[in-house]
Amino acid sequence: MEPTDLALLTEPVLGIETSCDETSAAVLLGSTPASNVVSSQVEMHEQWGGIVPEAAARAHVEAILPVVEEALQRAGIGLDAVRAVAVTNRPGLVGALSVGVTAAKALAFAWNLPMVGVHHLEGHILSTFLEGCSGGPPGFPHLCLVVSGGHTETVLVERQGAYRIVGQTLDDAAGEAFDKAARLLGLGYPGGRAIQESAINGDPNRYPLPRALPKDPCNFSFSGLKTAVLRLVEREGDRLDLPDAAASIQEAIIEALATKAVAAAEEADGVQALSLVGGVAANRRLRERLRVECSRAGLAFHTPPAEFCTDNAAMIALAGSWRLHAGQRSGFDLDVFPNAPLDAKRA
Ligand code: KG4
Ligand code: ZN
Repeated sequence: MEPTDLALLTEPVLGIETSCDETSAAVLLGSTPASNVVSSQVEMHEQWGGIVPEAAARAHVEAILPVVEEALQRAGIGLDAVRAVAVTNRPGLVGALSVGVTAAKALAFAWNLPMVGVHHLEGHILSTFLEGCSGGPPGFPHLCLVVSGGHTETVLVERQGAYRIVGQTLDDAAGEAFDKAARLLGLGYPGGRAIQESAINGDPNRYPLPRALPKDPCNFSFSGLKTAVLRLVEREGDRLDLPDAAASIQEAIIEALATKAVAAAEEADGVQALSLVGGVAANRRLRERLRVECSRAGLAFHTPPAEFCTDNAAMIALAGSWRLHAGQRSGFDLDVFPNAPLDAKRA
């Protein structure tokens, strides 16, 4: 394996992330987050049981300047010390993305700073290069399991900027599966953490649930699980044991993710490391399971602290930092894209 070689700017980079329901700003020094402020809209969206795009955009407008100010304050610097701006411009909710991109343009214009648009998934994929990642930064190539509310993918990371999707979900993302199951159990939104907490004293073998696509070694599917949970809830009614149901659901999702990710890493040429990123990577059981399975398979295991698994601007600053270091710049015509393949040239 090649030694890790991710050249980054050493001077302060301001990162901005508003692609979904978190308004986040961070100051990055090299690979060290000097601050990472996240203002969550979870409580607001909880009342509707999911994200309302219009409401999300409005909330970003209200939060963005205070969040940027707090990120600078916590880092102990003023705007005059910032040397570059990195902002998520794809994929995500268009209204939400526009708030972050507009703020980034305004700051870049006012302070004459270079700016770069970042793909949200590249931010997640490179989050293992942030200082403090468990296992340290992974070498290249490595296999990355990206699991979030919108994505479930195994990605071969050949080097920074060179990503090949090996497997993906055919329907729901893993985070969506957690969120939908939690709603069926009446556990609220977002569901991943709620299921994790409820499952602590539960028996994962109590309710047998289907494992996704056992015959397809690469891809994932969680719609069958959702239907099975619905049937379980209808069948058991008031008798349903909540911790046991939560533990059984968590186990079904985790088993599919862990088994296929390790298999993909073992299959891929030259890969000796597996990384786990994205909001679902905050799941303690999944982290533990992959740690054990990687060690059994002779793979190094890398995962960022939970704070940098869920959406955050530090990972966007890092992904932007190497691109800026490599000389890439976005103009003031930087656009936002609701959908964007990982390899599209849209910075
Ligand atoms: O990466 P992220 O913050 O946003 C997206 O880009 O989608 O991921 C959010 C997802 C939600 O579906 C949430 O339920 C899930 O991550 N999540 C978890 C945990 N914490 C957040 N899932 C399982 N266990 C957790 N502890
Ligand atoms: Zn995300």
